[in-house]
Amino acid sequence: MSSSQESSGSVTTIDALLQETRTFPPSAAFAAQANVRDASIYQVAHDDPEGFWASAANRLDWFQRWERVLEWDAPWAKWFVGGKLNASYNCVDRHIKTARRNKAAIIWEGEPGDTRVLTYRDLYREVNRFAAVLLDLGVRKGDRVAFYMPMIPELAIGLLACARIGAPHTVIFGGFSAESLRDRINDSQAKLCVTADGGWRRGGVVPLKDTTDAAVAQTPSIEHVLVIQRVGSDVRQVQMQEGRDVWYHEALGRITQKYVEPEQLDSEHPLYIMYTSGTTGKPKGQLHTTGGYLVGTSLTHEWIFDLKEDDVYWCTADIGWVTGHSYIVYGPLANGASVVMYEGAPDFPDKDRFWDLVEKYGITILYTAPTSIRTFMRWGDQYPAMHDLSSLRLMGTVGEPINPEAWIWYHNNIGHGNCPIVDTWWQTETGEIMITPLPGIIATKPGSATRPFPGIEADILDEAGNSVPNNVGGNLVIKRPWPAMSRTIWGDPDRYVATYWSKYPGVYLTGDGARRDDDGYFWLLGRVDDVVNVSGHRLGTMEVESALVSHPAVAEAAVIGASDPITGQAIVAFVTPRSGQQPNDALTAELKEHVVQSIGALARPKRIYYTAELPKTRSAKIMRRLLRDIAEGRVLGDTTTLLDPNVVAQIKEQYAASEG
Ligand code: PRX
Repeated sequence: MSSSQESSGSVTTIDALLQETRTFPPSAAFAAQANVRDASIYQVAHDDPEGFWASAANRLDWFQRWERVLEWDAPWAKWFVGGKLNASYNCVDRHIKTARRNKAAIIWEGEPGDTRVLTYRDLYREVNRFAAVLLDLGVRKGDRVAFYMPMIPELAIGLLACARIGAPHTVIFGGFSAESLRDRINDSQAKLCVTADGGWRRGGVVPLKDTTDAAVAQTPSIEHVLVIQRVGSDVRQVQMQEGRDVWYHEALGRITQKYVEPEQLDSEHPLYIMYTSGTTGKPKGQLHTTGGYLVGTSLTHEWIFDLKEDDVYWCTADIGWVTGHSYIVYGPLANGASVVMYEGAPDFPDKDRFWDLVEKYGITILYTAPTSIRTFMRWGDQYPAMHDLSSLRLMGTVGEPINPEAWIWYHNNIGHGNCPIVDTWWQTETGEIMITPLPGIIATKPGSATRPFPGIEADILDEAGNSVPNNVGGNLVIKRPWPAMSRTIWGDPDRYVATYWSKYPGVYLTGDGARRDDDGYFWLLGRVDDVVNVSGHRLGTMEVESALVSHPAVAEAAVIGASDPITGQAIVAFVTPRSGQQPNDALTAELKEHVVQSIGALARPKRIYYTAELPKTRSAKIMRRLLRDIAEGRVLGDTTTLLDPNVVAQIKEQYAASEG
């Protein structure tokens, strides 16, 4: 193994990748019809990146054209300086002036099987009405609006309504706890929180309004809670606090305004804040702005997914994550695509639900996550086999490295060998897809995200900042600004500089390890920092550690990501109990629940080990690397810097015993 990179233990090891050596060129038929057929675009964009992005910006409607493509005072970027536009206008208004007005914009299916199809004309009407309600509730340009919602059309409508009046939104995934919601609302100082009386998940109701009530009891900035009726009062009664809480359908009944003029916003006007985990306990609010973001997401969406006018496109992510923002809402709708949206679980009422949806709606493009693909593999080939999947013509993956076995299964069982697979690497911070095949010209290799998108200059550096040779691991970096990049961390510009732009000045540090092969293909090797990727969702080990130590029985905790065959990585915690506390199954269950209450179900530790002490360096730093090595069964590296080498032996023994 030639890598010197310490990956945080993702399922994709170089050894596993090397076992699959086939390449998959696009079929002649696909290549002939692809949106991008000429590979010279890579050189063109490389030679003149600003010219490349400027020509991409022509795809949008601007109220006022930009004066300068890029203003770059590292690490501060401004794109399309002087330009004025509106994201909601670009995603909705401009389409209703064309034949697209009667085209399906959102094809929605609720988990119980109820459906709604909104044409672009319908979407236009609904976005205007929602914007009128926002104004009625006192929301103005620049005010932040939080969303804590199920996957229903009102979520997309609400975001576009915010964009229309220039109020940045911040969506908090519906699986997060009240505490997480509270902290994000307080950090963004949102004025309004939009939620629902519930959402359907595996036949049950997710009590979003109750959780919101618990959160907003401690968020002084919130003036109103706007509640969408999704499940209905016969299913679930919610408490409405007089003066604060407003039913959306009642608010709609009060407004008389049917049209809200889209604000002519500066290209750099904040569009949204998306919180993501980092290496400290506090999530970072990534700030995305308007012009560059819309250029980046819409261009990548059209080129990478080879979007055609008659495609039916389904991205299975939740809008609570960046994938949903960029590739359910802004990119696809700016492109006038027909977007499928599904509310519920993939195994409800049975494990063929996704394939049922593909067949029912004739889905042509499917974008999902490796963890889902591995789950489908485990469920068995019979579920996709129950349905006609022949409408599919292209498939994508995102969120973590895909192991070649899952890639091949996806290719054979879902794509029936006919669909190019685009493995797309990007991040909340990058806003848009950065490393990916262009499906008409790039032959794919299972497990590799292949090449940087045109105009993106990616490199792999060693600790000293030199480009590493082929087949050697290093730090993945981006050497030039790109339009959809996060502009700063909300309220904490110093942290933005320190986290991303300080290791190599003027160069963006991704936090991922990677290597390049002899064909120049990039192979992602997982995170190199203390960020864990569980089912494609990012969690900081520090966040989980803070949650654990806030429990009265815990003196100290260290958290790592250990390889997991389904979720990629799983949370494993090592806990030192306070004296007098007896570790037992009841405490383990209690601690797991405590983490769920503090952060959300996605952070639930899979295993908890108790140890009298944690391995620390002489300067008292917890050596998570050693704990990872133990969890992965690796030979332990250098332990000479340890304060007490016996600690490791004891933990190892316990780990081995529990593994049986
Ligand atoms: O480690 C990389 C992994 O997910 C991280 C970004 O997570 P997040 O900001 O939550 O965004 C997820 C969706 C864009 C990256 O730093 N990652 C994402 N896509 C891939 C990936 N790792 C390997 N291959 C991918 N295609």
